[in-house]
Amino acid sequence: MDGEFDREAMLAALAWQVELGAVDAIGDVPVDRFEVKPEPKAKPATTAKDQHAPVVMPELDAVAEAKAAAGAAATLEALAAAQEAFPHCELKRGARNFVFADGRPEARVMVIGEGPGAEEDAQGKPFVGRSGQLLDRMFAAIGLARDAVDAEAALYITNVVPWRPPQNRDPEAEELAMMRPFVERHIELAGPELIVLMGNPACGSLLDKRGITRLRGNWHEFAGVPVMPMFHPSFLLRKTEMKRLAWADLLTVRARLEGAG
Ligand code: URA
Repeated sequence: MDGEFDREAMLAALAWQVELGAVDAIGDVPVDRFEVKPEPKAKPATTAKDQHAPVVMPELDAVAEAKAAAGAAATLEALAAAQEAFPHCELKRGARNFVFADGRPEARVMVIGEGPGAEEDAQGKPFVGRSGQLLDRMFAAIGLARDAVDAEAALYITNVVPWRPPQNRDPEAEELAMMRPFVERHIELAGPELIVLMGNPACGSLLDKRGITRLRGNWHEFAGVPVMPMFHPSFLLRKTEMKRLAWADLLTVRARLEGAG
C-alpha cells in the first residue's frame, strides 16, 4: 500500500472484521465520555482598540430643521407642503388631517388661532366648529369674511399649530417652537396689513407673552406688522360677558383698517 491506505484493502479488512463478529468501531485511544471537562477559558477582554466606536446619533435640532424647511418655501403652496411633510412634531401622529389655512391670502387681516379642534381635524380647515362660527360672526360685524370676493373685505385664517392636539389640550412649548418658523414664513408670504391673535397660545407663540386679559385691546408688533391680541372665541362662548370687550377690540381693528386708531 506504499504507506498509504488503499480504499479497497480497507473495505476488505472491514468486511472481514464484520464477518468475524465486530459490531462497533472504536478508536485506538479510549474516550472517557463521563469526564468533566474544565470550563473553556474566558476570552481576554477586548481592548478599546478592538471595539467599534459606539454609534452616537447627533441630537436632532427640530427647530433648526423647521427653519430650513420653512425658509426654503417660496410660495404658500410650497410652505403648506413643507409643513405637512415636517416629521418631528408629535401632534402629527394623532391628527386625521393637516390644517393649513382658509380664506383669502391677499386679505388685509390675518387671523391666527391656536390649533384645530375635532371639527377642523375632520374637515382639514381652520375655525369651522362652534368657535369658528362665532369667529365668522364677530368679523362679519366689522365687514370682514373669509369668503369675501373683494380682498378688501376678506380674512385669511390659520393657527399656530396645524395638527389637532389630543383631547384639545393646549399645544406644548416644544410644539409651538417647532411650528413657529412655519407661522413666521406664513405671515411673510401672505403679507397681511394687520394680524389678530386669538387667545394665549397664539400670543405665547408669536409675542412670547401670555396673559390675554392684559394683552388684549392693545397693539403689539410682530416682524413689523401690527398685532391685536383678542379673547379666543371658545372662551367667549363660555364667558359671554366678555363679548363686550371683544367687540371693543374688533372696533379698534376696524378703525386701524380705516386709517384711524
Ligand atoms: N380653535 C382654534 O384656535 N383654531 C381652530 O382652527 C379651531 C378652534
